[in-house]
Amino acid sequence: MSERIRAPRGTFDVLGDSALARARLEETARGILERAGYARIETPTFEQTKLFARGVGESTDVVQKEMYTFAEADGDSFTLRPEGTAPVCRAYLEHGMHKLPQPVKLWYLSTFFRRERPQQGRFRQFWQVGAEAIGSDDPAVDAESILLLGELLEAIGARGLRLRISSLGTPETRAAYRTELRAYLRSREDELSADVRDRIDLNPLRAFDADHPGTRQVMTGAPLLLDRLTPEDREHFDAVVAMLDGAGLAHEIDPTLVRGLDYYTRTVFEFTSDALGAQSGVGGGGRYDGLMEQIGGAATPGMGWAAGVERMLLASPAAPVAPPPVDLYVAYAKPELRSAAFRLAADARRAGHAARVELGGRSLKGQLKQADRAGARYVAILGDEGAALKDMESGEQRDVEVDTVMHHIRGGL
Ligand code: HAM
Repeated sequence: MSERIRAPRGTFDVLGDSALARARLEETARGILERAGYARIETPTFEQTKLFARGVGESTDVVQKEMYTFAEADGDSFTLRPEGTAPVCRAYLEHGMHKLPQPVKLWYLSTFFRRERPQQGRFRQFWQVGAEAIGSDDPAVDAESILLLGELLEAIGARGLRLRISSLGTPETRAAYRTELRAYLRSREDELSADVRDRIDLNPLRAFDADHPGTRQVMTGAPLLLDRLTPEDREHFDAVVAMLDGAGLAHEIDPTLVRGLDYYTRTVFEFTSDALGAQSGVGGGGRYDGLMEQIGGAATPGMGWAAGVERMLLASPAAPVAPPPVDLYVAYAKPELRSAAFRLAADARRAGHAARVELGGRSLKGQLKQADRAGARYVAILGDEGAALKDMESGEQRDVEVDTVMHHIRGGL
């Protein structure tokens, strides 16, 4: 026998109950987002590499080491999308959506790809539900966006939730703050982890993310960006927080909150769940007012989030998922009746009923067992003299003409 081929590391097949749980999550997300005026968008699975290099940021882990990138013979470089915000912004520009009433609200449920070390809740191909509101910098957009993710997580029963929120200000404030933070980190360089030390120039903010005890100690005394915001940014942040308070959404202001992507400005937030292990981030996002310009568009504010489908399911109790109902199971007593049975099942489906017929050559006894296992509401057993129609709920059985089976079951369904 030749070698068995397995799914690539960090990927998974979606089967059975998991597929049903995902379908239900999708319906929940769709309901919540479409009621709030979000329209579905799906973008290509791969994009030009420069979209992510410029959009997500050259200094991020995602761009530096996690992208699946491939080159075409003509030299074009493409990348399997590691995230959805840059592609949605690209689509907004490409389709002239600035002409629509702003903000334009778009949601997606798609697969994403990052070459990360696989572990519980971390995959190389994963799914996200995402929502982006583009074209308005009103703090109400931020508050509504955060509230919608809160609503989704509540609706699926996610456990042990915590919402942290902060503001990163404008790029100018951040640049000045980075300089200040770099100087501070350099002043205590020998207490930092090698990793953080190597990144002082490239991404000093990541030091807040470190697990290394020495680094954590240093960071307790570090200057905070939240204390350096301009009055406008501070006012914007306060307005977002006030609206969340008004809506009764519990949150913590965490000035050390950092996100893994570079495009954020002003509001950032993250929901974590203590039902998850080390990968506790269920979903997060923020404002990205500079992203459009990075990818060649006019300055356009945006705000959004994405939540990992696998992590949302891990964080929620596995609710029993009912298999789809079967209205009619068509069985036949002998092989010559197979075509008639096949036709009856096909007609029943065309008429909108969930109908099945034997496809594995089982004996009548085997067929009846299958009907039982599928939880069929009615079973029609075709014989030489017509059909014996059994109502599986009442146990009642009667002989009917084959072409009246549907007429008979319609009343009961
Ligand atoms: P992100 O924080 O990189 O943000 O990803 C959002 C969510 O996707 C995470 O909270 C997590 O649940 C899930 N996720 C990320 N990486 C993995 C992985 N390797 N395996 C399983 N799940 C994962 C973004 O992607 C931004 N585009 C969010 C956003 C939208 N910001 C503004 N708009």
